[in-house]
Amino acid sequence: MNILYVTSEAVPFCKTGGLADVAGSLPQSLAANGDRVSVILPLYQSVADAWRDRLHFERYTYVRLAWRSLYCGLFSYERQGVTWYFVDNEQYFKRPELYGYYDDAERYVFFSRAVLEMLKYIQFKPQVINSNDWQCALIPVYYDLFYRNAGGCYDNIKHVFTIHNIGYQGQYGLDLVKDIVGIPPHKVNIIEYDGDINFMKGAIEVADKVTTVSPTYAKEILDPWFSHGLDRILVSKQYKTCGFLNGIDTEMYNPETDSGIAANFSAKDHKGKAACKSAIFNEFGMPEYKIPLLAMISRFADHKGFDLVRAVFDDIIATDMQVVILGSGESQYEEFFQNMHWRYPDKVGFYRGFNTGLAKRIYAGADMFLMPSKSEPCGLAQMISARYGTIPIVRATGGLKDSIVDYGDNGIGFTFQSYNAHDMLGAIQRAKEAYDNRMSWGRLVTRAMKADFSWAQSAKLYIGLYKELCGE
Ligand code: GLC
Repeated sequence: MNILYVTSEAVPFCKTGGLADVAGSLPQSLAANGDRVSVILPLYQSVADAWRDRLHFERYTYVRLAWRSLYCGLFSYERQGVTWYFVDNEQYFKRPELYGYYDDAERYVFFSRAVLEMLKYIQFKPQVINSNDWQCALIPVYYDLFYRNAGGCYDNIKHVFTIHNIGYQGQYGLDLVKDIVGIPPHKVNIIEYDGDINFMKGAIEVADKVTTVSPTYAKEILDPWFSHGLDRILVSKQYKTCGFLNGIDTEMYNPETDSGIAANFSAKDHKGKAACKSAIFNEFGMPEYKIPLLAMISRFADHKGFDLVRAVFDDIIATDMQVVILGSGESQYEEFFQNMHWRYPDKVGFYRGFNTGLAKRIYAGADMFLMPSKSEPCGLAQMISARYGTIPIVRATGGLKDSIVDYGDNGIGFTFQSYNAHDMLGAIQRAKEAYDNRMSWGRLVTRAMKADFSWAQSAKLYIGLYKELCGE
């Protein structure tokens, strides 16, 4: 089968969030099953020269955007059994950041049109196109409107649309329809929602299947508490919606071979983990006490649950723990953690910003990893930390619920149900008690490290879904 995976970001080329990790690892796993897989994404300025030098220029053409015709280049690159395509237009993509520009709607309208146009010119005829998140949501819509009956390479393509985060939908005013989105007036209803245009709603409307990144999140988004307004359309399209849990790249995240951490260790032999822990204290300039080290690595965004952490922070410290936090985002939390570092200089370390190397060293060196999200479509950090023997403490929502079974049920972490600071504190205290029993903690660490978070299972589910759509 031929599968085209469309994304607005992918590791190792460019990244702002978890979508990039998924797009950087799922396609290889799909290809490992013997299917032909290509990925297509924009050629951003942030794609490093080391990668650019290896890209092969395929061709250029002009792409229609409403009433305009715009230059579009196409590059390709073979990597790990997958063909990567990059869409080039410097006016739209030669910018310091990936997103956050006044014309983001136009940039991704262009990208979506370009992806469909390019199919004419590449030696790859997809049977399934899997588009991801709002940036690529117009692909099934444009296919439906302009390409479905165009013949040739466009015959009978099935569309899967995957929601990684329903908080970002591509919602704009109707005034964009004529000059940017370029959809005829009598078809605008496809993308119209609550008086606006909504790219994601359009994809939910027309895609053959809608998937999301965990089974629990697929159910949660039918509820207004999680849906950011899209529950009505999702309830009506429930028959074609499902959720597959993401995996992680278990080669990239492997404590046995990782050269970026102070010492290697494995599920059988944890000794190196102590050296990784000491290295963290060195790096943060903190003394090492013989108490648990609790870590948080996150964007400080609303749904990540930092209001709970703030509400009981002193109690967490009183539980007798040291804490390190790596992250950036909402300034109220950046300031809060900075203040906590000043208040407890020997117990709290804070790194403002993002730093992939340091993140890995923290995953490896900490004892526990806190993720109290209000909602979490999947979450990857809890899987990475478990793989490094750092025990997740999570709220049972979305993918956190699907990936982390509680210690009390012979699981690999500590969970709490309600979005409540003291429930979270209770889970942290249970973790501390478990930590103090060194023998059983060691067994817990082994269990966590052995949990299978590879893509193997989910890749099979995706392939099964694609095959079902293609009648194979
Ligand atoms: C988004 C979600 C996160 C998920 C990731 C990859 O970033 O917020 O929960 O793990 O996408 O699907």
